[in-house]
Amino acid sequence: MDLKYYKPFEVARMLGISKERLLDSERQGTIAPSLRDENGIRVYTVDQIEEIRDRVGLRPTVENPPRVVAVFNMKGGVGKSTLTANLAVNLAERGFRILGMDADPQGHLTASLGQEPSSFGATLLQLLVPDRTGEAAALDDVRQELTPNLHLIPANLSLCDLNLLLFQQPEREYRLRRTMEQIRNAGSYDVVLIDSPPSYDLTSLNILLACDLVIAPVKLDGNSFYGLEYLFDTIRKVGRVYRYRIPAVVIVPNYYNGNFAVSRQVLKGLRAHYEPYLARTVIRQDVNFDKANALRQTIFQTAPSSRGSKDVNSLSGELVGLLTAREEVRGTTQS
Ligand SMILES: Nc1ncnc2c1ncn2[C@@H]1O[C@H](COP(=O)(O)OP(=O)(O)OP(=O)(O)O)[C@@H](O)[C@H]1O
Ligand SMILES: [Mg+2]
Repeated sequence: MDLKYYKPFEVARMLGISKERLLDSERQGTIAPSLRDENGIRVYTVDQIEEIRDRVGLRPTVENPPRVVAVFNMKGGVGKSTLTANLAVNLAERGFRILGMDADPQGHLTASLGQEPSSFGATLLQLLVPDRTGEAAALDDVRQELTPNLHLIPANLSLCDLNLLLFQQPEREYRLRRTMEQIRNAGSYDVVLIDSPPSYDLTSLNILLACDLVIAPVKLDGNSFYGLEYLFDTIRKVGRVYRYRIPAVVIVPNYYNGNFAVSRQVLKGLRAHYEPYLARTVIRQDVNFDKANALRQTIFQTAPSSRGSKDVNSLSGELVGLLTAREEVRGTTQS
């Protein structure tokens, strides 16, 4: 996936160095010369940026990688896929090695990352369910390399069969968890970022039992609280029934529009009732998300200075804090 050409200031931001240091390194020959666009301005491809990152030695480190992060909310249309795609690209740009995992037959993560879902013969289904030979597909046979730091396990409509097929498997609730152990042993990723379907079924149960952290986007509308109660009840129930350490939860208020009373009131309510779980970042309503999705790109490509782009970048920064922190992230109290 050719995401785009990056300008020197963008590369400097991504690498966490000054623009001057970047240009100095080029002058001194520490890094290869950049390309020039049609106006003679320096530009860099994503592959070049990775080379530069290795030379100037600023690769981020995650404790106990890969951390498995599920963007999860059984409520539909709250922004899960959009957030997953944009976070995946942003974290990959920051130098994290990301495996995006599309667990929804709708294939929205796959599409938002520029891919045609129906073009893939192997998806998450083949990774989790053995074929006639009794073996599930190897990670290498399913993952797609989109950029050096961003790989994808795609999804398409064939995933509609996943729940039925999982049902017939031994240890059916733990198939994804076992697969994560293989991914962990392969040692290639810092973070696995899962886009979850809007349902509570065997696929979602597999996700909850495999992840360390749930990011729950919440659309700031009149129904937000019912969805959140259901989400917390479900996570606690899964912890009780399966005697499993339940994932930490970060709630991300989404679609905020200060002109609407309901947006302001629901955000206030979230702060009053769910404060320990709330992300500091509020994602504002921005039509650029929709436009980017329609073009099968992320907002960083189509509208890099939009408010949506700034908000996702800010959330990504918060996530980096959680992923690189030595201490455990906030846990969901079990009741
Ligand atoms: N902050 C935002 N502002 C405006 N539109 C948004 C925002 N976040 C997401 N959207 C739009 O809302 C729609 C639903 O988003 P998305 O598909 O990401 O939700 P979802 O939770 O993954 O849905 P599903 O439950 O069907 O999987 C999309 O058209 C997306 O472009
Ligand atoms: Mg979705």
